[in-house]
Amino acid sequence: MRLDVFTLVPAAFEWVRERRPVAAVLGTELDLRVFNYRDTTPLGAGQVDDEPYGGGPGMVLRVDVVAAALDAAYGPAPTHRIVALTPQGRQLDQELVEELATEPDLTLLSARFEGFDQRILDHLATDLVSIGPYVLSGGEIPALAVLDAVARRLPGALTEGSGEVESFSAALDGGLEYPHYTRPAQFRGWAVPEILLSGDHGRIDSWRREQVKSLT
Ligand SMILES: C[S@@+](CC[C@H](N)C(=O)[O-])C[C@H]1O[C@@H](n2cnc3c(N)ncnc32)[C@H](O)[C@@H]1O
Repeated sequence: MRLDVFTLVPAAFEWVRERRPVAAVLGTELDLRVFNYRDTTPLGAGQVDDEPYGGGPGMVLRVDVVAAALDAAYGPAPTHRIVALTPQGRQLDQELVEELATEPDLTLLSARFEGFDQRILDHLATDLVSIGPYVLSGGEIPALAVLDAVARRLPGALTEGSGEVESFSAALDGGLEYPHYTRPAQFRGWAVPEILLSGDHGRIDSWRREQVKSLT
């Protein structure tokens, strides 16, 4: 997959390159490119935003600036999915992550300030995605959330098997994962459930299935 992020804060995407899951697939399953709107803005002095028509506080990311950034990267008619991160979008869930992870090319657009000029959402983006019903100061954290969730679905991102049985997976019928415990078996009087120490894998499996049911 080639995943492109457009942002005003390219530095936000540096550390992920060195950490799993992104680090594990970079250069093989994942080509990650980060573009700064300021590098291709047609306006002077690196300007990317402007005051809202109709008045009001804050600055709005300009449509000509985002169009110039997309043109420079893809030419005038990109054919792949261009996802704008916005609180007005479809809420990100595992189903959407699995869908996005199958795309050969994917673009994420982030904004700051008051957000995007509506024409970016109407005409330049193919999808609008929100990471939840709350407002963050910029699209970088939402873009990182999408990047991480998508990258861990790519082949080789995780250690063998660890992505198969987890919350929202088909293996758990879309439910929440059962609790995990590790050593010590006793800590401050908090005991690990006896059944997990029993070595009886049939009973452990049933206990875990019960936990999934009650948590979900
Ligand atoms: C301060 S927010 C703009 C909020 C906008 N004025 C509103 O009231 O809906 C700036 C940018 O952060 C990103 N952002 C903030 N919250 C988000 C969320 N929950 N999901 C996705 N992107 C978000 C978007 O790119 C947004 O345009």
